[in-house]
Parts: sequence; C-alpha cells; structure tokens
Amino acid sequence: MDDLFDYAGKQTKAEEERKRYNELCRIVYRNNELYYAKAEPEITDAEYDRLYRELEKIEAEHPEFITPESPTQRVGNDLSEGFAKIIHSEPMLSIDDIFEQRTTADTVSDQALIDLYKRLQAALDTPTPHVVIEPKIDGCAVTLFYRSGKLQYAATRGDGRIGDDITSNVRTIQSVPQKLPDGAPAILEVRGEIFMPSAEFDVLNAQRDADGLPAFANPRNATAGTIKLLDAEEVARRPLRFLAHGLGAYEGKPLQCMDDYEHLLSAMGIPYNKPILHAHSLEELRRSVSEMDTLRRKLGFGTDGAVIKLNSFAERMQLGSTARAPRWAAAFKYLPEQKETKLLGITVQVGRTGVLTPVAELEPVLISGSTVSRATLHNQDEIARKDIRIGDTVLIEKAGEIIPSVVKVIESKRPAETTPYNLPEAVRGACPSCGAPITREEGQVAWRCTNFTCPAQAVTRTTYFCSRTALDIENLGGVVAEALVRGGLIRTPLDLFHLTKEQLGALNLGTPTEPRRFGEKNATKALDALGHARQMPLERWLTAFGIPSIGAVKAHDVSIFHPDLKTLANSEFLCALVQTEDAIEQYNSLNPKAQNNRKGDTIQLEQQREELLQIIRRLAESYEERGYIELQKDGPNKLHLVNPIGSVSCRKLQAYFKSSAGQHVLKRLRELGINPASTCYVEKRGTTEGILGGKTFVLTGSLSIPRDEMERLIVAAGGKATGSVTKKTSYLVVGKGGGSKREKAVKLGVPIIDEATLRDMMKVPPAL
Ligand code: IVH
Repeated sequence: MDDLFDYAGKQTKAEEERKRYNELCRIVYRNNELYYAKAEPEITDAEYDRLYRELEKIEAEHPEFITPESPTQRVGNDLSEGFAKIIHSEPMLSIDDIFEQRTTADTVSDQALIDLYKRLQAALDTPTPHVVIEPKIDGCAVTLFYRSGKLQYAATRGDGRIGDDITSNVRTIQSVPQKLPDGAPAILEVRGEIFMPSAEFDVLNAQRDADGLPAFANPRNATAGTIKLLDAEEVARRPLRFLAHGLGAYEGKPLQCMDDYEHLLSAMGIPYNKPILHAHSLEELRRSVSEMDTLRRKLGFGTDGAVIKLNSFAERMQLGSTARAPRWAAAFKYLPEQKETKLLGITVQVGRTGVLTPVAELEPVLISGSTVSRATLHNQDEIARKDIRIGDTVLIEKAGEIIPSVVKVIESKRPAETTPYNLPEAVRGACPSCGAPITREEGQVAWRCTNFTCPAQAVTRTTYFCSRTALDIENLGGVVAEALVRGGLIRTPLDLFHLTKEQLGALNLGTPTEPRRFGEKNATKALDALGHARQMPLERWLTAFGIPSIGAVKAHDVSIFHPDLKTLANSEFLCALVQTEDAIEQYNSLNPKAQNNRKGDTIQLEQQREELLQIIRRLAESYEERGYIELQKDGPNKLHLVNPIGSVSCRKLQAYFKSSAGQHVLKRLRELGINPASTCYVEKRGTTEGILGGKTFVLTGSLSIPRDEMERLIVAAGGKATGSVTKKTSYLVVGKGGGSKREKAVKLGVPIIDEATLRDMMKVPPAL
C-alpha cells in the first residue's frame, strides 16, 4: 500500500512540475514578446531572470520536457511587420547569463565566475585563459554589413536567423559611418548595440510630454520603438548611438584577438564599447568584474551587467556555440541590493491607463542609497503567487532605475492571523478613483477601470485625445492637460469643449510660487484647434476615445463601413458580424457525420445545421452583396467569415457603446452637437461592372497615397478591396514594406503586383 501511495505521490509531483513548466514557458514567451517585439516589458529584468532560471532548473531535472520550441533553445524575436527581412550571414546569437548570487541576507557569492573560469580552463586545457570584460549595454542588438567599405545594410537580431532591415533608420545615426576609409576589409560585419544615453533620454521624454505624447518607460524601450519607426526623418531626430561589441562576417587581414579588432575598428572610425578590462587568472577576473560594476555607472547609458569573452579569436572558434549562445562568452548579472522590511498595508493605485496596481506600503528602509517606503506589487497574480499578506516581513530590492519590488515573503516571520490578499475584494470590485466597476480580460493579469471619464485617467486620456494620431489639438499636450486636471478645470477630455479663453489664458503651468501662465495667445490657438477638432472625421474621434484594441488603424477600418458616429454607435453591421460569427461557431460545432451519432440524431443535426445556415445566409446576404464581407467554406463541413473589422474589435466596440461610460460620451457629444462623419466610408465596395469588375484586391505596405484613397479608386473602377488575403483574392498589391500578407499570398498562389501595375489596370496615371 505504501508503495502505491508513494507512486501516486510521484505521479502528481511530476504532473505538477510539467504544469509549472508549461506555465513558465508561456510566461517567458509572453515576456520575451513584450520585451523584444513590443518593447513594453511588464516585469523587471530580475523577475524575468528568476522565471528563466526556474525554467532552466526544471529542464535540468527533466530533460525530457525540452523541445526545440522551449525558450531556452531559442533567442528572442523582435521581427515586425512593415520591414523587409534580411537573412543573417551567420546567426545573431543570444548570450548565456550567469548570476552573482546571494548566499545569506548579507553575503554574496561570485561562484558563477569561478565555474565559468573553470569551464574555460578545462575546455582550452590551460590554467590561464585570457578573457576580456566589457560593459553589457542595455540596448538593441544590430548588425552593420560593410562591403568594400560601404554600408550595405543594417538589421535587427530578429529571431537570430532573420532580422528586420532597418538600414534607412540606422543611416541617420551619427556614430555609424556610411563609408569606411581606404584600406577597409572586403567584408566587415560589425555587431553591436544601438542605445539612447540617459541624459538625452530624459530630454526626449520631457519634449514628448510637452508635445502631448506618451513618455517612454526607459531608454531601451525608447530605442526599440525608434529603430522600428517607418519614418527615418523622425528617427534622425531621436538621440540614438551605436557601439560595436562583436564581429560577424569578415574578409580581410586576419585578426588574432580583441586588440586587433579594436585597432581595425578605430582605424575604420567605428566606435567600440569601452572600457575593456583584461584578465589572465581567476583572481584578475573577479577583480575586473567587481571594478566594472563601478566603472559602468559612469558611462552615461544603461548597462545590465558585464560581458566576459575569450580574447583569442582562434580559441572562440575552438569552443564554438550552441543553438542559442556562444560557449566562449557569458553575461554576468550583478545582484541588486536587498533588504528586509515590514509590509504595513496595500494600497491600490489607478494608473494613467486605468490599470489597477497594488502598491506595498512599507516600513521605510535605506536601500541602494535611498529610503524606500513603497514598492510595486505588480498585480493580483503576482501577490497570489508570492502569497504576500499585510503584516508580513518581506524582502525588497531595487534594480537599477527600476521601482523597488518585493522579492519574497520571509515566512518564518509571518505573524499569526494573516489572510491572503485579494485585490478585487479589497476594492469591493470598484475603481478606487471613480467607483466604476473593474474588469479583467481573459488571459490578462491586470484589473482595469475602463471608464472614459475616470478622473485618475484624465491626464492620460486628455493627452491621448489631443495627440496627433487622435484629434491633433495643438497646444494641449501633457503639461497643459496636467495643469487643467490639477486645477479642476476638466475631469474628462470632453470637458475641454467648455473651456473659455479666460480660463485657458490664466492657466498656471508652473507652481504656485513660480507661476507660468498659458497666456492669451496660446489660449486662442488652443480654442481654434478645439473648434477644428469638432470637424475632425469619425476615424480620428474613434481613435481619440481610446477604446481598448481600437487604435488609429482599426478606427480607420471601422470607419470604412460607417458614415458617422451615430450609425456606428447603433451599427447593424457590427451586430450582424457578431451574430454571424456566433452562428458560424455553432454551425461548425455540429457534426452530423460524427461516428457515434445514431441515425435519428444525424437527421436532427442536419436539420439544425440547415436552419443555422439559413440564419447565417440571411444575416450575411446584404453585406456580402456590398462586398463588405465574405463567407467561405473552411473544409468540407465548416464555414468561415472574413470579418474586415476583426472579431475582437467588433465585440470591444459593441461593449463600449453599450457601457454606461460609452453612453455618457455619446450623450455629451450629442449635447455638444458633434456627430463626426467618416471620410473613408464606402457604401458599396464592389460590383461586377467596371474595369476591375469582379476582382478582389488586398493592399499592404505603404503606397504613394493613403490606403483608403487607393481603395476608393479600386471601388470606383468596379473592384473590391478587402482586408485579408484568401484564396478568393485576385491580387495582392504590395507597397513599401509589407510583411506577412506577402507570405500568405505566396502560399495561396495569389498573384502579387505593385502599385504601378494596379494603376495601369485601373487606367489611372502613375504616382508622382
Ligand atoms: S557579445 C553572440 N558584448 O546582449 C553574442 N553582447 O543578451 C555575443 N550585448 O545579443 C554578444 N553588450 O546584443 C556582447 N559588450 C557586449 C554586449 C552585448 C550588450 C547584447 C547583445 C546580445 C545580447 C545578449
């Protein structure tokens, strides 16, 4: 019997580990995506490192779990749509992290350095491997390919094998030479980092704030966002810098070691990452790594560790690489300082975007040179996972410029009678700022208040409302919005329309002791811009509402199908799309041919399907005729709806206009006499007459004129324009950029044409 129980126990343990493993893979993937592709990390690097290490630990114990898809087997992925792709001459790898470790509360160990050096000694069979130590720049990896001294292309790391072509953006960076001096190697591929120095980052953010644009979270985000802009002129205005730290393809005079490479780069005018420290023994390595911790703080840009590499290129070759990272290098991550303190309470803050963030109220402690009395607890899941309770003694840390966070609870010090913390319960299901109900979307960790008129969000919402992508209300950027909210002049963006010239002119942008008035001239300008905003089209207004998942592009797509806001708010089309989708889902789930159906069942199921089919046809008919949507057969027994707005967006829009917040906005707009009209509304999208009669086009990438204008030309010529490539698409028209749609067209055998060919077909003059 004992054995049996033991076996059962083991079973569940393995199952639990498998479950945790799968969960970790998902979390790490999600955060990779947030970090690399979106440049909007939600957790600190330290937190990420901990998750990653937990994943590695499970893999060490259960190698059978590892698949080629495991995050440990791949480098991150930063590929974006809209960029041409470049296949790297040789893979751009990641680097293995090694960590300074905490043994007890106040002792740390650099055992990882000892292990690394031992590994190098054994692999090279020498007691004194020569290594170099450099700062690890916290930026974005980039490769610069020079052929015969000319910059041929610059690319991001991408998935390590294929990167995004960012040449035109990189050409705007001053520290990247376009042409190398005489004597350049036939081929020189320089790998390095693009980053933004801290001081310049602060200036940029202050400027963005003044312009009413959202600030970047940190220099790395700002860099990642900038190198992926589609507008090189804007990139040129951003303070980016480049430093080299590696070598890719090379054809030239042989290079033996780092010194040779440094000399070559300095002769070529390419800046190398400095300082470089050299070590020939474990003692020297430990000293250099600790010295680097001091040196890196004076560099003026963000670093997140030290990189240790073999000096000799021959030795690097000898050790080679794994699929993920070279064996001749490692990144040493310094420990952030940690302290114990008491958790006195948890308050809930409503962020500028409506996210409810629990904040730890702590007994003040001194950490990394500053007193800490609050720390972020991130979200409810995080609190539950760490089982953080009010009254606990907690370990907190501060990593770099990041807000302090709670590492863990010291359970041995937990007082009796504590209870688990639950955020929605603690706030009684209501936003602490405005009392509106809070919601959490499926698969998301954050609870949010989605009330457009929530005062906690007033500044962000107003700033966004006035931004260039939304209503372009010049002059009413972040600083002004902040002053308006602070002064109690507005609580929601729509309050802007009630402001008077006197109120605006007298607005104090400074402090009570050092006042700075907005002034009459600015006030007049702002009122003009507000008057102009009243006439702005539907697509701009829709963007300005800030409905989750409805950005400028989506807003435009929606406006193609609706003449004005009133029609959209009561849209029969959205209703039909949602109902059709639901009916199709039901239809697809009924399978009359399933093996275990009895005959009677089969007949009944077939009847049900027939009825559903009638409903679907009826719902879709008129829209199909107008070329708005397309019903497709998806396999022998299934249907598929090509939804030009997207399923999620349809439902988000409906929910918004139904919600009390949405109703409130509609009412206020009615009172203000504003009913924005769409400028891209196309009543009938396709007919069988005209030169393009019966042909369906999908547009991708940037064309010489806005996409909606080109769509109107297509429709005017009797064609149809749809959003996604299917077998029924006649042509894919590709402009500059254009990513995944092209792949899909190739796969489905849909002909790909360029803008000139399309213009030719429509008999309209070529682009200027
Ligand atoms: S050497 C094959 N040196 O860190 C990888 N990388 O997390 C060898 N990085 O992709 C890289 N500073 O973009 C090296 N001094 C440095 C670095 C550095 C930053 C980046 C690099 C790499 C990433 C790995």
